[in-house]
Formats: sequence, structure tokens, C-alpha cells
Amino acid sequence: MNTQDQLQATIELLVQKGKGILAADESSPTIAKRFDAIGVESTEEQRRRYRSLILETPNLSDYISGIILFEETLGQQTDDGTPLPELASRQGVVPGIKVDKGKGSLANAPGDEITRGLDGLEQRLEGYQAQGARFAKWRNVYHISDRTPSRLAVEANAEMLARYAAICQAQGIVPIVEPEVLMDGEHDIERCAEVSEAVLHELFHALHRHRVVLEHALLKPNMVTPGKAHANRADPDEVAQQTVRILRRTVPAALPSINFLSGGQSPEEATANLNAMNCLAPQPWELSFSYGRALQQPALQAWGGKPEQVAAAQAALYQRAQLNGAARRGEYVSSMESAGS
Ligand code: 13P
Repeated sequence: MNTQDQLQATIELLVQKGKGILAADESSPTIAKRFDAIGVESTEEQRRRYRSLILETPNLSDYISGIILFEETLGQQTDDGTPLPELASRQGVVPGIKVDKGKGSLANAPGDEITRGLDGLEQRLEGYQAQGARFAKWRNVYHISDRTPSRLAVEANAEMLARYAAICQAQGIVPIVEPEVLMDGEHDIERCAEVSEAVLHELFHALHRHRVVLEHALLKPNMVTPGKAHANRADPDEVAQQTVRILRRTVPAALPSINFLSGGQSPEEATANLNAMNCLAPQPWELSFSYGRALQQPALQAWGGKPEQVAAAQAALYQRAQLNGAARRGEYVSSMESAGS
């Protein structure tokens, strides 16, 4: 298969009605935080057990089309010796890989950050592909404050995401570009909308400059919400209106799907907000999910590191996936939470 056909085939598998992507690509420090919250020590063996549990969830592909893994997970195996990426494929879930190397401060831009990992990316992608990865994810973050993000940060981050995406496509790997405007802060929803619109505008300009084929890429943005420390929460209708408005202004119709991150929203909020967006008029792209915390939190809590709790954790993950599958179709109602369906 040539590279274009390979990219198209992966897009068709990832973008399916009623399905979304599971982000299980927490870096070692992040998974340690998640494990800490449930009293589990983050050893390589515990991480292997937990990620095996996720991938062995019966019928995972009913609502999950792809899973983003961390580098370590790509090389791990189940108890019976099946490589975890192979298990994903057998389950009908496309394995992907987080390829950025985390963030650090951006020189000459106080308070802003930039993501590392472009050097040697081509070679790393070859290795990941040999291990079964068919798509990739790269995350850049933007902090909202009175002074940030600066113009410099918006431009430098867009350039980096575009270069990453171009390198992936040359290799036949579908890139997920993730520009995350963080929820931290006291700002109101209008400020989040203004920053998110500027970030996306710059990003698509850069993707065009780097000749990224939008038909073969996915966008993973934040939803437009007030900051976590703002006095008021926004209801799902307001989040949906504000988010879709800026997406319509900035994201070309050629892009097949927008898969939101959850970014610290509760599982219920993330589902209700996605549902509200899918209840608006039809959009040029699919509106889906690529949640980490909002899909995994209940499963992590149910598991608690106990082997006898594996089935309960899998049931919790399946339920969250199912509810988000309903939100993909605009058919979610909050009473489904207690009904367990
Ligand atoms: P959250 O949904 O927990 O924000 O994670 C998504 C993700 O992949 C962040 O890079």
C-alpha cells in the first residue's frame, strides 16, 4: 500500500459513527499521579497490568476506534505473551502512540511553554510503526493569564505542531494535532474562546504552510469553557455554542474529525458537553472524543490495583465509552448514568 492509501485506511478505521478514541498515553510522571490517587505504586509491572486490563476490556471496539499508547506500553505484553499493540488490533482498536517528549519553558516568553521531541522523530516513528502504531499524537499547551499566551508562543507552537504532522504523514502515520488551551485560571468563557480561536487560526495557517493533508489528520482541541477557578460553570449548551462557533471559524471542512480532550472536566461533564455539540445542526466534521481522564477515572477507581477488581474496572470503562458513544450521536441523557446503559 502506498503512503496515501495507508493514511486513508487508518482515517477510515479511526473515524466511525458512534465511536471515539481512548487516550491511555499518560507519561510516567502522569500515570504515577493517577495511581497515587488510588493508592497504587507506579511500577512497570503495575502499569503493564493496568494497560492490559484496559485493552482486554470485552467488546471495547463497540465504542472505541483507536487507543493512544505511551512508548513503554508499545513494548509490553499481556500475561500470555501477546504484545499490547497486537491485542488492540485483535480487539478491532487501532493502536497509536504519543510521540512528543513533553513540555518545557519557551525561551524569551515568560509563562509560555513549548513541546519537545522533533529531533530524531523520523527514526522513532519507524520503530513505533514496526511495533504496530498507525497513528500518533503530539500535545502543545497554552496557558491563559493576563500576559499569556504571547504571540510568540502561539506562532512557535503552531509551527511545531505542523512540522510534527508533516513528518508523520510522510511516514504513513496519521497525526493527531493537539493544541490544548489549559483550563487553569480564573478567566471567563469569552477569554477562553478568544485564545482558542487565535490558537486554531494560527495552527491551520501553519498546517497549510507545511502542506499537511487535512483529510489525513485529526484535531484534538480543548472545549471552550470558563477557567477552573472562575466563579461560574457554563452549562453544556453554552459550552457547545461557544466551542462550535470558534471551530466553524477556524477549522476547514476537509478535516474529517475533531476529537476533544477532557482536560480536567468530570466524566459526566465531558459527556454532556460532547452530546450538546452533537445536538446542534450538522457540522462539516465529526465531533468526537479522545478522552483520557474522562474515560478512565471510574475504571481506575474501581480497579484500585486489585486483581479481583479487574472485571469491575472493565465494566466501568465500557460504560463510559458507551455513554460517550451515545453523546457522539446526540442521544445521551443524564439519567443513563444511573441506569448503567
Ligand atoms: P484528558 O482527556 O485527560 O485531558 O487527556 C487527553 C490527552 O491525551 C491529553 O494529552
